[in-house]
Amino acid sequence: MIETLAEALVERGYGVVPDFFPPLLTALLRTETRDLLAENRLRAAGVGRGGDYAVRGAVRNDRILWLDEHSASAAQSAALERLTTLRDALNRRLFLGLRSSECHLAAYGAGGHYDKHLDAFRGALSRKLSFIVYLNETWREEDGGALRLYDRDAPNVPARDVWPLGGTLACFLSEEIWHEVRPTARERLSLTGWFRG
Ligand code: OGA
Ligand code: MN
Repeated sequence: MIETLAEALVERGYGVVPDFFPPLLTALLRTETRDLLAENRLRAAGVGRGGDYAVRGAVRNDRILWLDEHSASAAQSAALERLTTLRDALNRRLFLGLRSSECHLAAYGAGGHYDKHLDAFRGALSRKLSFIVYLNETWREEDGGALRLYDRDAPNVPARDVWPLGGTLACFLSEEIWHEVRPTARERLSLTGWFRG
């Protein structure tokens, strides 16, 4: 699994792994995220860095909650542990020097989307590898909401649409792969994060 993912990252700059989280873990995280949403603990996500940071609903309209390993639930800790294992395995095969990670729960409501963007701009300390694990129990083509990844060498050419089905991991080079969240027709939940160099 890791071997195939590492090869895909080298060859194409992205990789997709179905069933990266077992169904029970996905279900627990889904339930927790829904509870947190109901308690109004997720906040409108923004775009931009530093002083440019602002909530721009026309660009993205998901709600997020940053995870903190010290106050994580058992399910969140299990998820973070799996992601750390993934990071260490990728570090042994690639030369990305992945270190710290940051990660948040994300929820798009019906009608949600995120315009085409890059997760990082070239530079030290920046995000090197983006990862998203989806938490939705089922997904159908008519639900929309695909993660659209663009070709590394031709950023206007869509390369792959990933359905946000529970347990699926999508992973890509933060500085190189343009991507967007296509409009979703229903609630769309995920755990999203980045490894820094
Ligand atoms: C992001 C992002 C993609 C997705 O949060 O930066 O691109 O599929 N998310 O949720
Ligand atoms: Mn992104």
